[in-house]
Amino acid sequence: MKSVALHNPLAKVLLKSFTFLLLFSLSFNAVAQDAIDEARQKDGRKLFKSLCASCHKLDKKFIGPALGKVEERRENDWLKAWIKNNAELRASGDKDAIAIFEEYNGSNMTAFPQLTDENIDNILYYTTVGEIVKTPEPGPDGYAPQPAPEAPKWLIFILAGVIAAAFLIIASLLKTISELKGAPKTPGLWGNSVELWEGLKRNTFLHVVGTIFVLLLSAYILFGALFTVGVDQGYQPVQPIMFSHKIHAGDNKIDCQYCHSSAKHSKHSGIPSVNVCMNCHKNIAEVADNTVVETEDRLYSKADLDKEIQKLYDAAGWDPEKLAYTGDEKPIKWIRIHNLPDFAYFNHSQHVTVGGVECQKCHGPVETMEELYQFSPLTMGWCIDCHRETKVDLKGNDYYKKVHEELAKKYGVEQVTIAQLGGLECGKCHY
Ligand code: HEC
Ligand code: HEC
Ligand code: HEC
Ligand code: HEC
Ligand code: HEC
Ligand code: HEC
Repeated sequence: MKSVALHNPLAKVLLKSFTFLLLFSLSFNAVAQDAIDEARQKDGRKLFKSLCASCHKLDKKFIGPALGKVEERRENDWLKAWIKNNAELRASGDKDAIAIFEEYNGSNMTAFPQLTDENIDNILYYTTVGEIVKTPEPGPDGYAPQPAPEAPKWLIFILAGVIAAAFLIIASLLKTISELKGAPKTPGLWGNSVELWEGLKRNTFLHVVGTIFVLLLSAYILFGALFTVGVDQGYQPVQPIMFSHKIHAGDNKIDCQYCHSSAKHSKHSGIPSVNVCMNCHKNIAEVADNTVVETEDRLYSKADLDKEIQKLYDAAGWDPEKLAYTGDEKPIKWIRIHNLPDFAYFNHSQHVTVGGVECQKCHGPVETMEELYQFSPLTMGWCIDCHRETKVDLKGNDYYKKVHEELAKKYGVEQVTIAQLGGLECGKCHY
């Protein structure tokens, strides 16, 4: 590095903003590393649920001891040896292994020689971090509040702002400096940018810094773009009760609007209150013998499903033995799946009642979903496409008939689309 660079005010400013950016991005990385590694958690959870959950729980003693944070009381090597073959470990004379075996009156834990070290590390990771979905208190609409928006989105904006500001500062500094030196007034911001560029080209040190600058910026923008692509479609959070739409709306043919009764006449469809569930479940405490539910990462047996109904009873404050309410209600904290940004307006009754659009057109084959997920992208293009394609339904609507005749004349078509009715006007969907 040429010592000249250090005396160059331009270099100093650049160096400062570069250091700032570096620290900024490092601190962001530190936060990201603190976050839970979802892939490991998921893998560990899957193994735990299929191999260990029949005897272990995380939070309490079951057939075996509670395994939550077991790594805080046992060495990793010991755990690996125990899990792979606990009988062998005991036979080797390991005191801890013998002690825990005796504590549990000699009940036998299965050996798992098939598990790799990585498998076991992931299981232990799961026992340490537990479940990822945390459900805060529900709001007035029955949903848990939304988690704060993901960091990367706003981070990009801040970063872009910081960089823009840095360049502006550099430019104005340059201007002041050259004016102080008594140079003739430079021709404004653009002239400074040119000068900055010339400086960059001439000075190797600045050259390198500048390149890193640009690389960092593009990396962040690229990351930001990748982060936001298609995050919502297919969104399927784990709900507090494993409620199957297939069993209710499919197998038992319960009408969507029996539960989502406000879809017909209001903006929101809403989620049914526990009272609606209890209309049936006062009498249905168990599922039929052959009922099973298979979700992406778990198989629910009859016994598991009966436990889910028990959760409903806990929420409703219902004592299935005495067949009476205890008065101890705890609202179910359902997690919202579909969510438009606040600046977009969508109204269910407009579509369901006035437009006669079927729920499935937007929500997909809900009656086949064991666990509900977001079927449609819910982007602006998605709304607009349907408005362009769909013809207005005129059945039994005199008001529309009149409007329609006028519009059909205006556009010279047989039947007008929602778009021609005004369904592309910004103000209809944006406040
Ligand atoms: C058939 C029931 C059963 C299954 C399945 C089972 N365990 Fe166990 N586990 C036990 C029992 C019982 C104990 C208590 C020690 C004993 O009696 O051998 C135990 C003890 C342990 C311990 C020692 C805990 C401590 O506090 O020292 C660990 C760790 C453990 N199990 C992990 C696992 C893992 C991981 C799996 C799944 C891969 C698993 N177990 C599957 C029954 C089981
Ligand atoms: C027995 C009551 C019941 C019936 C019948 C029912 N639902 Fe639901 N629905 C729920 C509950 C409870 C939730 C919240 C839990 C979940 O997301 O699985 C829900 C969630 C939803 C959601 C997601 C809401 C969100 O958070 O974004 C949609 C969409 C939905 N239902 C559509 C339908 C459609 C379409 C039908 C008919 C085919 C239907 N439901 C039938 C009870 C019901
Ligand atoms: C034209 C498309 C469309 C149709 C038809 C439609 N929905 Fe929706 N639904 C949406 C959109 C978009 C959202 C997200 C709304 C928001 O975030 O404000 C949504 C959200 C929901 C929710 C979450 C709670 C809420 O109201 O925000 C439920 C439950 C739901 N829909 C059920 C239904 C049911 C049941 C039907 C049929 C009776 C239906 N939907 C018909 C598009 C549709
Ligand atoms: C119209 C009647 C009816 C209503 C309303 C109803 N259920 Fe059910 N539910 C049933 C029937 C019937 C079964 C058993 C199906 C079987 O045996 O295969 C069942 C099964 C279940 C199960 C076990 C299977 C599964 O889906 O995981 C749960 C949990 C459950 N209901 C929760 C709820 C909740 C929560 C609500 C309210 C949002 C609700 N039910 C509303 C009729 C109803
Ligand atoms: C599956 C087709 C479909 C999709 C998807 C759809 N709509 Fe519609 N939309 C309709 C129909 C049909 C009507 C006509 C209802 C009527 O006759 O007034 C309509 C009407 C409207 C209107 C009233 C227009 C007017 O001129 O009065 C608004 C606002 C609207 N939609 C918003 C949305 C938004 C926001 C979305 C996306 C989140 C959306 N729609 C997605 C079919 C759709
Ligand atoms: C049929 C309903 C509808 C109409 C008409 C509509 N928008 Fe949107 N717009 C939406 C929805 C829904 C979103 C949210 C999309 C998302 O979250 O991805 C949105 C998002 C946006 C965004 C945010 C950028 C984005 O894509 O997420 C802008 C900007 C916008 N709209 C501008 C407009 C303008 C300008 C018009 C008029 C020419 C218009 N919109 C007409 C439904 C509509």
